[in-house]
Amino acid sequence: MNIRPRRNRKNSVIRAMVEETKLGTENLIYPLFVEDGKAIKTEIKSLPGNYRWSIDTLLPEVESCIDLGINSFVLFPAIQESLKDTEASYSYANDNFYLDAIRKIKDEFPHISLMSDVAMDPYSSDGHDGLVKNGIVLNDETLPILGQMSLAQAQAGIDILGPSDMMDGRVGYLRDVLDINDYKDVSIMSYSAKYASAFYGPFRDALDSAPKSGDKKSYQMNPANKREALLEAQLDFEEGADMLMVKPATCYLDVIHILKENFEIPITAYNVSGECAMIYAASQNGWLDYNAAMSEMLLSIRRAGADGILTYFAKDFANLVKK
Ligand code: PBG
Repeated sequence: MNIRPRRNRKNSVIRAMVEETKLGTENLIYPLFVEDGKAIKTEIKSLPGNYRWSIDTLLPEVESCIDLGINSFVLFPAIQESLKDTEASYSYANDNFYLDAIRKIKDEFPHISLMSDVAMDPYSSDGHDGLVKNGIVLNDETLPILGQMSLAQAQAGIDILGPSDMMDGRVGYLRDVLDINDYKDVSIMSYSAKYASAFYGPFRDALDSAPKSGDKKSYQMNPANKREALLEAQLDFEEGADMLMVKPATCYLDVIHILKENFEIPITAYNVSGECAMIYAASQNGWLDYNAAMSEMLLSIRRAGADGILTYFAKDFANLVKK
């Protein structure tokens, strides 16, 4: 044997030197849930260690993440049922607490990167991402609502818009709305290949945002499809997306890889609630080592080609590397 790969694994110095994939806190985007009210910190049962915050408790939480090296966040609103309607009008209302949270976070921590969610579902009494008429989820008619939502978020100071409804023509339309209103520096990270996945369960519990009827298969992608992800990514790229996202991450590593090979802009991946919940649950049972398993999961997403990873593990990972 003149070739023995084990020689390059014989001690930790050599192993570190030849390590191909680096993962640091700069690659992570931490999802945070905000609701209206005061002094709220409610744990999400299916995502232990993750909470619904009110703005006053959220600000110190953001600060503690920054101290650990997490500087990138994505914010999701939990809206009370009485404020939801068929047109998601609360999403751009003047007194909207989510917009207020964006404003306050960016006022207090101007250097961080804050990303939003642009979709109707948290605000919709139908629980769908688009306008519903006669049981059909409408594509083009939803655009003006998303335009108003995006403009309100841009005015509040958001750094990155995250259009997440997987319907057609979103990126181009929102890019125009931003540019016409002189928000040329606001970025768009498109949920380009978002699958109709079973792994969103804990998130929908957290926000109480599950569809009231039907499912999301007429807009989210079929898990069986990969070439279609290339088409979706191509359209978002041409419409002016700054980054392309794949979601979920671990069951779709091949999709992350193929987008990375085919597009010259950054690729991100959403390590969704159900993926994280599996590791939380198995660790609580003593079946997996939490720190080792979550680090390995994040590393695999990065190795597949993700530049950025949205993950509920962000804070725990940051704590781990600090030690
Ligand atoms: C929808 C949206 C979803 C997630 C983020 N934005 C789920 C859905 O389609 O219901 C899921 C994220 C997660 O599971 O962590 N706008």
